[in-house]
Parts: sequence; C-alpha cells; structure tokens
Amino acid sequence: MTRRPARRSGTVTVTAPAKINLSLGVGPVRSDGFHALATVYQAVGLHDRVTVRDAEEVSMTVRAAARLSLEDVPTDGSNIAVRAALLLAEHHGVERGVGIEIDKGIPVAGGMAGGSADGAATLLACDHLWGLQTPREELLELAGVLGSDVPFALVGGTAIGSGRGEVVTPLLTRGSYWWVVLESPRGLSTPAVYREFDVLHAGAELDAPEIPDELTQALRGHDVAAVGAALCNDLQPAALRLRPELLEALSSSGSDGVHGAVVSGSGPSCLFLCGSRRDAVSVAAAMTARGLGPVSCAPGPVAGARVVASTVAGVR
Ligand code: C5P
Repeated sequence: MTRRPARRSGTVTVTAPAKINLSLGVGPVRSDGFHALATVYQAVGLHDRVTVRDAEEVSMTVRAAARLSLEDVPTDGSNIAVRAALLLAEHHGVERGVGIEIDKGIPVAGGMAGGSADGAATLLACDHLWGLQTPREELLELAGVLGSDVPFALVGGTAIGSGRGEVVTPLLTRGSYWWVVLESPRGLSTPAVYREFDVLHAGAELDAPEIPDELTQALRGHDVAAVGAALCNDLQPAALRLRPELLEALSSSGSDGVHGAVVSGSGPSCLFLCGSRRDAVSVAAAMTARGLGPVSCAPGPVAGARVVASTVAGVR
C-alpha cells in the first residue's frame, strides 16, 4: 500500500549517542559473512544531530564539530542516513523525499558507531516527519537491516548485544561512569579491522563469544574499579596491528584516576574509565598536554536516539 503523507512544512531534529563496548567478544564467521558477537554496549554523551525536512527527493548535507574530520563520511546514496530514509519510505510505501542535515559530534570511523547513530536518528526523524508512528519493534528491525550497531543507537543505556550485534537486550545497571575518549586524526575501516581479526585467528577454532560475568556483576554493583578491570575487546589486537601507535596511549591507563583502558569497538578511538567527572577532566588535560588528541570527556550511560525539536504540526 502506498501512503502519501500530506506535505508537511517544518523540521524534526533527533540526537543519537555514540556507543562504546565495555566487552566485545568476537566469535566465528557466520554463514552470512558477519562474526558472531557477544557485547556489552554503553551509550555515551557524544552525539550526532540529524535534522530532516520535507522534500521531493532524498538528499543530505553534513558538517562537523571543529575537532572532527569529515574525510571518511560518504555524501552519496551509500550514506547510512540516506539508506535509512529510503528504507523507511519503502517499508511504508511513502512517496516523499527528505532533506537530511547531519551535525557530527561523534568521531568519524572511530569505532563509536557514529554512522549507526545517523542511521538511527534518521529513521526516528523521518518517522516523526511523515507521521508514521512505526511500532518500536518494527523500527528496531529496520535498524538491524541498516547495520549491526543501529538498533542499539535507538535503545541507548547499557545493553547486551548478540547475533551480529543487532539483537539488543537492555541491562539493568546502577549509576553512571565518566569516560575520556581519545580520538585519532585518522579513522579505521571496520571491515578492515575484522579482516585483520580473521588473519590473526586463521586456522583457529573460535568459541562462541561470551560476556564476562565479572563485568555484569561489576555493573550491577557500580564497582568502577572492577568495571575498569573487566573492560575487554577481542578486536583490540587487530586494531593495534593496524595502528601500533595506540599502544602507547593505552598504556597510560596506569595513570592517576584511570581505572581501565580499551580500544573502542573496531577503533581507533581509545577509552579511559575514570572515577569521576573531575578525574576525567584532569586525565583529558594531561593527555592534551602530552600532545595526544583530540580528547573529550563523556558520561555514560545516556539515552538512545530521541526527538529534541519538532516544528511539524501535530508531530512529536
Ligand atoms: O553491520 P555493519 O554495517 O556495521 O558492519 C560493517 C562491517 O563490519 C561488515 O561489513 C563486516 O565486515 C564487519 N562486521 C562483522 N561482524 C559483525 C559486525 C560487523 O564482520 N558482527
């Protein structure tokens, strides 16, 4: 059935958070070519902002916070935001386009699911713009079609990811955490890191991935030191092979106020868990003084994608 939503003037703005993986267990390659994953996701306070407006065709523009490079952002039909708008339109038989503006605050190709955040934000924004009220389960399914990390960008908080990462189960945890995020001037390609992982494990029989009990227990008890000690990432050795210079930054995890350090997802962003906002700010300042960076501080967990502004009549 084709639905032609009435032409609606106005805009809808959605923000979506970056994700980090507190644990990232990678298993064997599945028959669809993806790796089986068992991960603990956490949404952290770095956000992309997506604004959509009614148009005849689908188009997009992107700009970024001064510290970020846009080099790795595709601006054609392969951009995940464009794919998200087209997927939602096709799903509902909507015959309208949309102008998409993306403001990036999440590192590009940094292992923090910035593209996935844009996909999730665009799904939600178009759903509001077109007045579709897509049921949550359907939206999550469409998100999973767009990419492995996109459903979590809708859900936010702290959650377990299974399947290829797209099956998201919220995890009850207490309290919040402060992270120092050390970004890299150059991004890393996620497929390239998984390929390196395959090279490192060639000939080995990988077990089904698991989530460490110590981590879920530490999260339940809000034991920051134990969370720091339990941080783990099976992609880290592969990311370090591609970017050996990250090792030195990670080894500064012994410094004051840092409870643990890990590469974020497929990298190259690195994460340092701190005991408080104050510690995070001083760790970030020390890194900047050493010439590392860009560096930012982010709390977690934060909410998933949400509408923050709408000037579309009857929508919100
Ligand atoms: O799902 P997404 O588009 O984010 O995945 C990007 C790439 O990362 C995939 O094409 C694949 O090479 C790799 N990947 C994987 N196994 C996963 C998730 C991603 O091999 N579970």
